[in-house]
Amino acid sequence: MKPFRIFNIVGARPNFMKIAPLLAEMRRHPELSPVLVHTGQHYDYEMSQVFFDQLGVPQPDYNLDVGSGTHHAQTAEVMKRFGELVERDRPDLIVVVGDVNSTLACALVAAKEMIPLAHVEAGLRSFDRGMPEEVNRVVTDAVSDLLFTTEESGGVNLRREGVAENKIFFVGNVMIDSLVRGLESARQSPLVKRLGLPEKGFALLTLHRPSNVDDPSRLRGILDVIADIARRLPVLFPVHPRTAVKVAEVGISNMKSWNGASAISSPEIWTMAPAAYLDFIGMVERAALVITDSGGIQEETCYLGVPCLTLRANTERPVTLSAGTNRLVGTEPENLRREALGMLDKMNSGNAAEPPSSRPPLWDGHTSGRIVKILVEFLQKRDAG
Ligand code: UD1
Repeated sequence: MKPFRIFNIVGARPNFMKIAPLLAEMRRHPELSPVLVHTGQHYDYEMSQVFFDQLGVPQPDYNLDVGSGTHHAQTAEVMKRFGELVERDRPDLIVVVGDVNSTLACALVAAKEMIPLAHVEAGLRSFDRGMPEEVNRVVTDAVSDLLFTTEESGGVNLRREGVAENKIFFVGNVMIDSLVRGLESARQSPLVKRLGLPEKGFALLTLHRPSNVDDPSRLRGILDVIADIARRLPVLFPVHPRTAVKVAEVGISNMKSWNGASAISSPEIWTMAPAAYLDFIGMVERAALVITDSGGIQEETCYLGVPCLTLRANTERPVTLSAGTNRLVGTEPENLRREALGMLDKMNSGNAAEPPSSRPPLWDGHTSGRIVKILVEFLQKRDAG
């Protein structure tokens, strides 16, 4: 019998660590023929290729090279190019992960072409339609045939939206599969060694959400508070390309760029290029504190038991709050100052709470195995019927 062809879609940085373990698992199944499609939403070496190298992902079978654009133009371009591909080479199933524009665009093509669609990381909701990712999540879930959830809230949200029970599968978190697999190498990261930062002696910052970086006065407000935090301990800041442009526009002066060679010693804000996956995980594990507006980093800090302050008013990942590692500091920079400095005071006086040790259910490194088993059963049943 011919193996089932599955198109696996990646587009932007947070997709790569989710597809890597799925693809590896599919390749172990002779009844499956996985195909990797890269939309090209992210294209810089540091935002894309380095993840393929570090995660051992083979080169994509197809690259759609869409590049940057407005949200509607980017989504439309992925739809157009992916639609043309699917007309030429029709798969048995399409797998999309996460919530980026490429996820939405390929999900819509699958629905219109009536190709079964699986969404990995389904059901997460921030209930904030001002976030482009929330729109992507809601629409993708509405047209998916198989919805794989990472935490209990995902199933609750999908049932509330009327998704049939037999489409929802609580399987855990594929991103944690990658983390579990990469952790030992992350601990040996040569880049982390070169940085020379003491274990639990620095803070790690990432910022890229339009709501935090697009408005110059807001960005300045956040970075002013970060500068105060950096008087207490070095703040390491791998800068996303969209943020780099905005920081340059605002003209922040109290930052230093790490030269890549000598160890960091002084408490300041240290900028560097976006970090590769294993280096980044190595940094997270060593950090005393992570400050971020990313979705995935809330989960990685949760698994690693590292305190995380999230610069957002809401989160679509509430399990990270109940686990005790993550705290929402909202959109007001003064809240960040209070929370971060309060936390550092407690750490210095030895009164900081022990990092929570309980990890969310099914975040165990075996999620991709559970997903692929369900996909195989689904395809075989469909074929037989
Ligand atoms: C996208 C995702 C977001 C994810 C983030 C992680 C959507 C709606 N957003 O946001 O969910 O958390 O990726 O990085 O899909 N750029 C480069 N080089 C690149 C990629 C982007 O310079 O390789 C610059 C371009 O100027 C581009 C801008 O960054 O216009 C934004 O890129 P885009 O992919 O549109 O959105 P992100 O902000 O990266």
